Amino acid sequence: MSGVPERSPAGAPHGAADGALPDQGMRGPASQDKGSDNWPLWSILVVDDEPGMRNFLVKSLAPRCSAVFEAGSAEDGEAIVRSTHVDLIILDIALPGRNGVGWLKDLREQGFSGHVILITAFADLDTAIESLRAGASDFILKPFRVPQILNAVKHCHESSRLARENFVLRHTLSSRPEAAVGLIGDSTLMRDLCRALTRVAGVQSTVLLQGESGTGKELAARALHNLSPRAQGPFVPVNCASMSPELMEIELFGHAKGAFTGATRAREGLFYYAQGGTLFLDEVADLPLPLQAMLLRALEDRMIRPVGSEKQLPVNVRIVAATNRSLTEAVAAGSFRKDLYYRLQVVELTLPPLRQHKEDIAALVQHFMQQLTPSLGVEPLKITPADLAYLAQYDWPGNVRELRNLIERSLILGALNVSALYSVGQGAKSNAGRMAADAGPTTDLHTLEKQHILAVLESVQGDKTQAAHLLGISRRTLERRCAEWTGTP
Ligand SMILES: Nc1ncnc2c1ncn2[C@@H]1O[C@H](COP(=O)(O)OP(=O)(O)OP(=O)(O)O)[C@@H](O)[C@H]1O
Ligand SMILES: [Mg+2]
Repeated sequence: MSGVPERSPAGAPHGAADGALPDQGMRGPASQDKGSDNWPLWSILVVDDEPGMRNFLVKSLAPRCSAVFEAGSAEDGEAIVRSTHVDLIILDIALPGRNGVGWLKDLREQGFSGHVILITAFADLDTAIESLRAGASDFILKPFRVPQILNAVKHCHESSRLARENFVLRHTLSSRPEAAVGLIGDSTLMRDLCRALTRVAGVQSTVLLQGESGTGKELAARALHNLSPRAQGPFVPVNCASMSPELMEIELFGHAKGAFTGATRAREGLFYYAQGGTLFLDEVADLPLPLQAMLLRALEDRMIRPVGSEKQLPVNVRIVAATNRSLTEAVAAGSFRKDLYYRLQVVELTLPPLRQHKEDIAALVQHFMQQLTPSLGVEPLKITPADLAYLAQYDWPGNVRELRNLIERSLILGALNVSALYSVGQGAKSNAGRMAADAGPTTDLHTLEKQHILAVLESVQGDKTQAAHLLGISRRTLERRCAEWTGTP
């Protein structure tokens, strides 16, 4: 073989659509069902010195995956692996000048983490064992028939899919059972929102969800995913405010082996784990500026480059972003890139604050009661129309999350625990007026505090630990206050 890799011209792969990657905007996971014989996101490299065998494999595989590369020697194969992302290598053992198993060991050493299926005409048990030890996923004897190789590829693909699913389960879907149910609320505002979510879910556009804290942005993002053709794919949330730019880059894009001290092996990033699904960029306004540039590039090129890697990896991911801060203000302040803002807000939806759709409070209370009673092992509470009227007077600065927390606390305490509303930072502000009015115009701050503490203590039947927890103070501070009023500890 000459130095030129034996593959389609200029490194162009054979692929499902004339060597082109599948239309990443349109291909959903519907075409990559569990155990199907199609792998639209996979690229495969065939390394064999027999042109007939290569042709046979390319013909069988090309219509089923994103790209098939071919090489006639380990050297040519290595050039392809260095420059392109490859998910699976089908590798002949008896290659000119180089043994396939030896090359496989080197590949693993260099950090190649894809699958390798070894094929050979001269098999013995020792070679088979050595291959598996070297990190081969499968070992097939020549001659083989099409279904045999398709089956082997299917197994590799399935094991990657399971690994990805496991990852997503471990890292992200941490007990959010309500997520699949959707948003509760029959008010005009919520009905309009749900209609918009359903309509937008079906298209691939990037969506920006705006709204105050606790209004249900994450729930809406999950609804968008669950209602989309990508529903069978992963939903991967990322909190953009939680990490340093360096860590964030690795988290999103992954890294190559040896990319930094301690990177003993390559690691995939969240973009990779979201393949075929939705990547939810939460608190996107806090994304550090350098990352904003990288994200913009990823969105425009539909390619990512892991840290320390020379290779670009095609990604098929739908982006949903959320923020509780105004992105236009962030753009004006120079902390958010204007071009990224325009890229993200192709569709912009706003989750209304609860104070604008108080007519949904009753349904939400009912919903949280049903949702929480089984896991808490308690009886549901009786909520009277007077209770609901009372809840409707409140401003709900913490929105639906605050209401959910209130119901949870009340269920634990066995009574609707409205006194806790006053202890919520912002809520105290909006309720200060009403409290003062309740207490009379001449009541001073000291008396107000005392009344409040006593009300909370009463609501928990005098349990000081519980009351201190609700008040957000230590038990000792609470005891000191009580001692001041009564003169006893
Ligand atoms: N319309 C709704 N129906 C049912 N549950 C809701 C609704 N809106 C919010 N919730 C619940 O309220 C809680 C907060 O919602 P979520 O985490 O989606 O808010 P968020 O807008 O992402 O808040 P933040 O900006 O603080 O991240 C969750 O438990 C969520 O399930
Ligand atoms: Mg959120």
